[in-house]
Amino acid sequence: MTDIKKTREWEVFEYIVGAQMACILIFFVSFSLGKGFSVSFSHSLALITGTIGVVAAFLYRFLERLLNQKKILYIKVAYVMFPILITAFVLLQVPHGPYGKQVAILLPVIVAATVLGKNGGLFIAFLGSAFLTWSSVFFDRKPLIQALEQNLILISVTFLMGWFIGSITNLEAESRKRLQENLDELQGEIERRKFAEEQTFKLSRIVEQSPASIVLTDTDGNIEFVNPQFTRVTGYASEDITGFNISRLGSEPAEFYEQIYEEVREGKEWSGELLIKKKNSDSFWEHTYFTPFKNAAGMTTNFLKISEDITEKKGLQLEMARLDRLNLVGEMAAAIGHEVRNPMTTVRGFLQLLGKKELYSTDKEYFTLMMDELDRANSIITEFLSLAKNKAIEKKMHNLNSIIRSIAPLLQADATKSDYNVVFELAEIPDMSLDEKEIKQIIFNLVRNGIEAMEHRGTITIKTYRDAGEVVLAVQDQGKGIPDDILSKIGTPFYTTKETGTGLGLAVCYSIAERHNSRIEFKTSPDGTQFFVRFKGSCEAD
Ligand SMILES: Nc1ncnc2c1ncn2[C@@H]1O[C@H](COP(=O)(O)OP(=O)(O)OP(=O)(O)O)[C@@H](O)[C@H]1O
Ligand SMILES: [Mg+2]
Repeated sequence: MTDIKKTREWEVFEYIVGAQMACILIFFVSFSLGKGFSVSFSHSLALITGTIGVVAAFLYRFLERLLNQKKILYIKVAYVMFPILITAFVLLQVPHGPYGKQVAILLPVIVAATVLGKNGGLFIAFLGSAFLTWSSVFFDRKPLIQALEQNLILISVTFLMGWFIGSITNLEAESRKRLQENLDELQGEIERRKFAEEQTFKLSRIVEQSPASIVLTDTDGNIEFVNPQFTRVTGYASEDITGFNISRLGSEPAEFYEQIYEEVREGKEWSGELLIKKKNSDSFWEHTYFTPFKNAAGMTTNFLKISEDITEKKGLQLEMARLDRLNLVGEMAAAIGHEVRNPMTTVRGFLQLLGKKELYSTDKEYFTLMMDELDRANSIITEFLSLAKNKAIEKKMHNLNSIIRSIAPLLQADATKSDYNVVFELAEIPDMSLDEKEIKQIIFNLVRNGIEAMEHRGTITIKTYRDAGEVVLAVQDQGKGIPDDILSKIGTPFYTTKETGTGLGLAVCYSIAERHNSRIEFKTSPDGTQFFVRFKGSCEAD
């Protein structure tokens, strides 16, 4: 930008200097023709005038950049007036040269036309011609008409010069002005673009650094763009997923998504919670907004999907709901458990008594069956009672690994009867305050679920390790996993999918975990399930 301006100004300056040089040349030639090539007083004056003209032109261009408009005007006027005065002085000093005084009139005209433009040039041409005519009348004592006639050609040339050079100067000034305007406009445009570019850059950073995952799809739900947060959350890179329909990530059927698309196509917004599958087939919950993405003409050309991972929040909600249910059931259990047990103990006692009588010797097996059933009912009540929130427990400092080792033979003995095996991976962990019986119960329940899920074939892995300041007990199976539709029911008392199950196993685990200031989490896939019991703050003492 500045470079263009400089070059243009330099061109103008060169043009002016060129005009000044031509001026000197004309002057010099005119004097030479008049007086031969000897350097006379008039020659010297002409040279000085021309030189001063060039220096003044240079100064003028130079000062123009440094001075304000008003001062520049003074300089312009002085620059025009100075040659006039010098010319007048030359003409008065050398009045009798044959061509000198006539041609000398061209100098101020050229200078004025160059600096002031057409009007200035013509005005000085008029002044010069008047002066020329007057000097003919005054010095040569000629009548006015004759004086005019004698100088007619020179006067015409003077006016022509003033008009021609002045027009070029005007043209140049005009084009300079226009160029400046264009440059200003261009500068404005560049600044506007720069601003727009900055805004666009910021916008792209917002999308890139957004903590929400952003997806742009066409109006059929086919993915066109995903932001880095989407990749972080789902594991799908942009190139893996572009072109796929967004419904493929969801757990809901494609028709469900089709309904959402229909709504958004109509210009409405859809928001709700969706269960999404990651690349590694884990699932997570997200709160999603689907909004129409419109072009400048207001037409919906795409869908914008903005979502936030709410798995943790959802987990907490589920946990709270589960604990509420557990507590309720636990309180009920505590209240009625004893009341039911006492009559049952009485009934069992009488059955035992009657069963020994000779009278019922043929029905002995029925008595045994009745008592077995009562025992089973009793054990369910025992388990049920352990759901009571304020159940008395006996916590002591134990090492979780020792507890696991103490029941290992039992777990392995069972395993040898079937086709599965139990593997232990126990890392070094600190002692914790635990109720031994309850911890054994958790391990038994989780291992039993695992074995049942594997249909008694495969490997159960029991691990202990430290993670993020917590001691973790993990029980992993190679079963078929927990189906999505029952995920939210896991841990609900009496929820079971097994014919002979009571649905209390996990409820008891959750209840025990709560009494141990720990929490239960799980990961499940068609290749197996892993339950974790995380003992909060258990490693803080280290
Ligand atoms: N490791 C697992 N793999 C697959 N599904 C499981 C697993 N653990 C639990 N489940 C599912 O959760 C349900 C509830 O488990 P829970 O242990 O509470 O009851 P149950 O095993 O059915 O009965 P109970 O433990 O009282 O004999 C099970 O019926 C099963 O569908
Ligand atoms: Mg179970």
